[in-house]
Amino acid sequence: MNDNHPAIKTENLTRKFRDLVAVDHLNLEVKRGETFGLVGPDGAGKTTTIRMLCAIMDPTEGSATVAGFDTVKQAEDIKKRIGYMAQRFNLYGDLSVIENLNFFADIFEVRGQERKDRITRLLEFARLTEFRGRRAAHLSGGMQKKLALACTLIHQPEILFLDEPTTGVDPISRREFWDILSELHLQGITIFVSTPYMDEAERCSRVGLMHEGQLIVCDQPDKIKGLVSGELIELRPTNLRQAKEVIAGLEGLLEVQTYGDLLHLFVDDASKRIPELASLLTAQGIAVEGLRQTRPRMEEAFISLIRAQAAEE
Ligand SMILES: Nc1ncnc2c1ncn2[C@@H]1O[C@H](COP(=O)(O)OP(=O)(O)OP(=O)(O)O)[C@@H](O)[C@H]1O
Ligand SMILES: [Mg+2]
Repeated sequence: MNDNHPAIKTENLTRKFRDLVAVDHLNLEVKRGETFGLVGPDGAGKTTTIRMLCAIMDPTEGSATVAGFDTVKQAEDIKKRIGYMAQRFNLYGDLSVIENLNFFADIFEVRGQERKDRITRLLEFARLTEFRGRRAAHLSGGMQKKLALACTLIHQPEILFLDEPTTGVDPISRREFWDILSELHLQGITIFVSTPYMDEAERCSRVGLMHEGQLIVCDQPDKIKGLVSGELIELRPTNLRQAKEVIAGLEGLLEVQTYGDLLHLFVDDASKRIPELASLLTAQGIAVEGLRQTRPRMEEAFISLIRAQAAEE
């Protein structure tokens, strides 16, 4: 790769579908070797962004370079240097693990001894060696994702685009998949990954939060968590609905978020408000478990930032 360029750079990158602005003037720079996470709700524009960066779809406005090459004018230079695992990655179900790898080796013209060596290494790397003869359709969901990743790596790309690579996979397989990504990160590969999972976002060097086509925030996970104003109190009340009504009257309350039967309250001063909260709730006959101050996670930060953005509009 040309050393003077960032791995990815976009300038007002925009894609419209008729009246809908799927990606809205995106300005983003990803350094070489970074693991960059793109998170955002359904329809935020993640896939459209990745498709433009992979030179599969042209922008309607703005531009982007990948590995220093323009995605519109130099698409072929980009395609050689990247690996792209699409959101609905298609393996050939009737083909075995090894046949799928051979198939992708054909497409990318990886031949001879080089092909043999790489496939052996990738099977090992993806922990699939003992399943080499199994049909892809008969692999577990997690193994299929690992095979898809291995196929994406056959031509040794320098930049990897992964569009929700672990969606629908059980937590243990997700963790294993991310351990594999960590190894790729250590090898110096640039990874651009979209994910709906906040625990995965926490593992990235930097994270961009996308909402309705726009990048709301883009920073290191710790910095993003630091953007939330106020301190966080967590509690598990017996009667959630009633508790929320009572809590609305708490002084110093900034924001309330619900997670299942947990309530997360952002307040001005947690140590001051916790005793006030406890007496407010007990006065109304609401029992409370697990009342404590806690640190905001990525999830709280994102919800808070999206709400703030919506309130501004
Ligand atoms: N080819 C297309 N034609 C028309 N509209 C499209 C097309 N592709 C995407 N869109 C629209 O653009 C918006 C962004 O879609 P995109 O698939 O990029 O979102 P996403 O963040 O990947 O969502 P998800 O998490 O569901 O995969 C959506 O409103 C979608 O309906
Ligand atoms: Mg998508």
